[in-house]
Amino acid sequence: MTDKVSRFLRDVMPATPCLVVDVDRVAENYGRLKAALPLAQIYYAVKANPAEPILGRLVGLGSSFDAASWEEVQACLRAGAEPSAISFGNTVKKESAIKAAYEAGVRMFAFDSEAELKKLARSAPGAKVYCRILVGNVGAEWPLSKKFGCEVEMAKELMVQANEMGLDAFGISFHVGSQQTRTAAYEAAIAKVGLLFTDLKTAGVNVRMINLGGGYPVRYRTEVPEIGEIGDVIMGAMVEAFGNALPEMVIEPGRFMVGDAGVLSSEVVLVSRKEKDDPVRWVYLDIGRFGGLAETEGEAIKYAFRTPHDGGEEGPVTIAGPTCDSTDTLYEKSNYRLPLALDCGDRVELLATGAYVTTYASQAFNGFTPLAEHYI
Ligand SMILES: Cc1ncc(COP(=O)(O)O)c(C=O)c1O
Repeated sequence: MTDKVSRFLRDVMPATPCLVVDVDRVAENYGRLKAALPLAQIYYAVKANPAEPILGRLVGLGSSFDAASWEEVQACLRAGAEPSAISFGNTVKKESAIKAAYEAGVRMFAFDSEAELKKLARSAPGAKVYCRILVGNVGAEWPLSKKFGCEVEMAKELMVQANEMGLDAFGISFHVGSQQTRTAAYEAAIAKVGLLFTDLKTAGVNVRMINLGGGYPVRYRTEVPEIGEIGDVIMGAMVEAFGNALPEMVIEPGRFMVGDAGVLSSEVVLVSRKEKDDPVRWVYLDIGRFGGLAETEGEAIKYAFRTPHDGGEEGPVTIAGPTCDSTDTLYEKSNYRLPLALDCGDRVELLATGAYVTTYASQAFNGFTPLAEHYI
């Protein structure tokens, strides 16, 4: 938690549940990423947190943007981004959304199928397009391995077809899975793209951009590779795959840019046991799966907690949200322990919650007020 967030929580005591984001920290993360991968153009993955103060700050820093929908494209434009700095990165787009983005000046689009290419050829003629390929996601705590991307052989055919349709088949992208904890995932994916580039050039395609996607991890409960180390591994793999004829490099960080800038403040609503002597206490918070903590699904993302009793004796807990849906249980199997002194009414903080929380929050499931947001 940054000093600024800590002071804000202490002095303002905002009503819970709320997310407090230190926008200066987002700017620092942009700088750290730029230092780790100076040759790459950063396209912030807007989906991680589309709040205007974040987009506006990143525009000022010279960032580009990866938008998943026409609505996200509009949010970037409203924040002052040039259309030329926006990539429409979802491979599944309504044709009306493609058309609207193209008319607004967006010229860079992702695809992974022939049907999507046809839409692009019709509604974004002459645009730069890049094909997403499937790559291994082992090591990712929030994998994205199946839904998007196509096999390399198909990518080759589609890139040739894209040119024939009058589009500019200029790049290849992949995503190694979000919260990727193994640098080897990037190495394997880059090697795959290197071979594909050779094939495409032989087939006469003027391919010249590699989009390394997101995946750069945030520290939750356990250590993750440092961004400098990830940058070194990526550059090593790039030189191995492309020699000194490096293509244009694009990265699409989401979690890394905003994750550790945010802290969620929550109130303990109830501490109870299912039997008198049960060692496991149930801790019910005023935030849960439907309040925005969607990535606790399958206990995939394990947030760290801070309580007013830290340092005191701890015991095992199951942690749940406030709604009457039993899937609104955050952690049952991940060996969470919280202080025995924890009681109803205590305020607890969930750390590094700046990414993939606010926009997952439901409107008012069970009548609970949606998560409040403070950007400081
Ligand atoms: C196309 C694309 N790019 C980038 C990202 C951001 O990934 P991350 O938050 O792991 O950096 C995502 C996440 O879903 C994505 O789908």
